[in-house]
Amino acid sequence: MTVTKGLEGIVATTSSISSIVDGVLTYRGYDIDDLAEHASFEETVFLLWFGSLPTTAELDKLKRDLSDFAAIPEPVIAQMKLYPKDANTMAALRSAVSSLALYDEAADDMSRESNEIKAVKLQAQVPTIVAALARIRQGLEPVAPLKGVSIAENFLYMLRGQQPDMISVKALDTALVLHADHELNASTFAGRVTVATLSDIYSGVTSAVGALKGPLHGGANEAVMKMLEEIGTLSNVEPYIRTKLERREKIMGFGHRVYKNGDPRAKHLMKMSRELGIMKGDTRLFDMSVKVEELVTGQKGLRPNVDFYSASVYTQLGIERELFTPIFAISRVSGWTAHILEQYEDNRIIRPRAEYTGLVEQKYVPVDER
Ligand code: ACO
Repeated sequence: MTVTKGLEGIVATTSSISSIVDGVLTYRGYDIDDLAEHASFEETVFLLWFGSLPTTAELDKLKRDLSDFAAIPEPVIAQMKLYPKDANTMAALRSAVSSLALYDEAADDMSRESNEIKAVKLQAQVPTIVAALARIRQGLEPVAPLKGVSIAENFLYMLRGQQPDMISVKALDTALVLHADHELNASTFAGRVTVATLSDIYSGVTSAVGALKGPLHGGANEAVMKMLEEIGTLSNVEPYIRTKLERREKIMGFGHRVYKNGDPRAKHLMKMSRELGIMKGDTRLFDMSVKVEELVTGQKGLRPNVDFYSASVYTQLGIERELFTPIFAISRVSGWTAHILEQYEDNRIIRPRAEYTGLVEQKYVPVDER
């Protein structure tokens, strides 16, 4: 047996959803740069699920369906109110997503048609759950979703209980496009492994949320913000980063398993971070981030990944740190469900092997003789 730690370089499945070739990320053959500039998140979701960009009629129908399913079952809201107010938001999201299955009679219907409907429900309901969790944490009542608006607009509206400005909506929409799918990343793989047992789509997405939570994956965006808060000032960047690197500690938001010459999504988030800073007349977070990048890239050759500039983007949109990774989930649920639908289409249980390195030839000893 040859063991490849972390499955680096192992090609575990075929997929026609997204690809990373020579550092270029595409969704269904469309370059992420093109989509980030031109596509809405809803168009991107359709593209990931169905393989082509939607016609106007198809896009209108998807938006209507997403709107119709955006409300979450009352018992799920009641449960969320019982969660500890200081619970980790990704842990809370994981529990709430899991609970959605309890109130969907079709949860175990494995037909393609039913699973497509559940994909729409999950995409529609995860933003509502995240906004509700945020409000409940602050002792506020959840706000019901609006009809006929985009996911980005609805999410910001449900979060704040008031109409968001269109610049924030556009920035969040682009961030959602950039995070929607990423080939066989850890959370997508977790989701595919789960449903490859022919378990249901809610189980798959619950597994994926759990995997996204970790700081080596989606949780890194919150860790980046924590680091920027700790650094505090531009002049403190240099000593802070130097100390971290001397201690051989990881700098969150840098490095990537697949991209060694830079993550193509990072430049879009960097641009947004700069523009938001200029617009708000305060580029402190952006300036600190640029300095961190200069030092980490200069000294370690590591480039920022998608999580690095998203931290300053979300903060400048007035979003609290605890929601960064759940927002990643709001976007990535599109990719997870696309992959889950693909997995069901041509399924084989995913069951690799492990090289055994433990003790051998042990003989049972009764408990009172040990
Ligand atoms: N800061 C400092 N050193 C780093 C970093 C970092 N962010 N990332 C990698 N390195 C170093 C490692 O210490 C290691 O050095 P060594 O060989 O001297 O021990 C070397 O680079 C290789 O790193 P690995 O962790 O083995 O690389 P791997 O491909 O397994 O991990 C990962 C990739 C998890 C993204 C890693 O770069 C990391 O931990 N980054 C910080 C967390 C982060 O930003 N995660 C988000 C990734 S994007 C996403 O999931 C959405």
